[in-house]
Amino acid sequence: MLNIALPKGRLGEKVYDMFEKAGFPCPSIKENNRKLIFENEEADVRYFWVKPSDVAIYVERGAADIGVAGKDILLEYGPDIYELLDLNIGKCRMCVAGPKDFHDDKRRTLVVATKFSKTAQAYYSSIGRDIDIIHLNGSIEIAPILGLSDVIVDIVETGTTLKQNDLAVLETIFPISARLIANKSSFKFKTPQMEHIIKELSKQIRED
Ligand code: PRP
Repeated sequence: MLNIALPKGRLGEKVYDMFEKAGFPCPSIKENNRKLIFENEEADVRYFWVKPSDVAIYVERGAADIGVAGKDILLEYGPDIYELLDLNIGKCRMCVAGPKDFHDDKRRTLVVATKFSKTAQAYYSSIGRDIDIIHLNGSIEIAPILGLSDVIVDIVETGTTLKQNDLAVLETIFPISARLIANKSSFKFKTPQMEHIIKELSKQIRED
């Protein structure tokens, strides 16, 4: 049976539709309830909904054979998995954001609030800027408003959250999209199934 970890939420629903079209249907998943695991013995597939940032953990440890995770998570945590396909959905970007009129005073250590500490550290090391990181778990945009940090490193999708909080993008660090990932030994032992999935999902990828 193929175990597939789906990121809970809108992106996951889109991803499920792609798997369904690829020949792995599991109609019970569409029933609106609080269940987290869905199985279709006929199609030999089991899906489970996990927190988007946890998909790579399930896949890396082999609890899931494959899953879909954002490039942001893969770069932040560096899981030991295979990245098989860029699905070209769930697109957004990793950015530095702050007050519109922010001016970086290079004589001072820059204070950066973020959920993506490694990413932020790597970015500022690459440009030789000293920073202090404040690791937060959500609502990052509040930090510069309350003076907890100078700037934030966070995901920007539509830009609405920044706009509604009087903040702006100061730098784009990298683009993000959803990736199909696989557990390394599952890939080895279930190669024909994996190749089938790659082929069928590839047909559904829309280029920009
Ligand atoms: C993400 C991100 C931004 C927001 C960006 O937060 O951290 O806050 O989405 O989207 P937008 O550009 O379309 O406004 P998420 O919804 O994951 O919640 P969080 O505050 O818990 O991080």
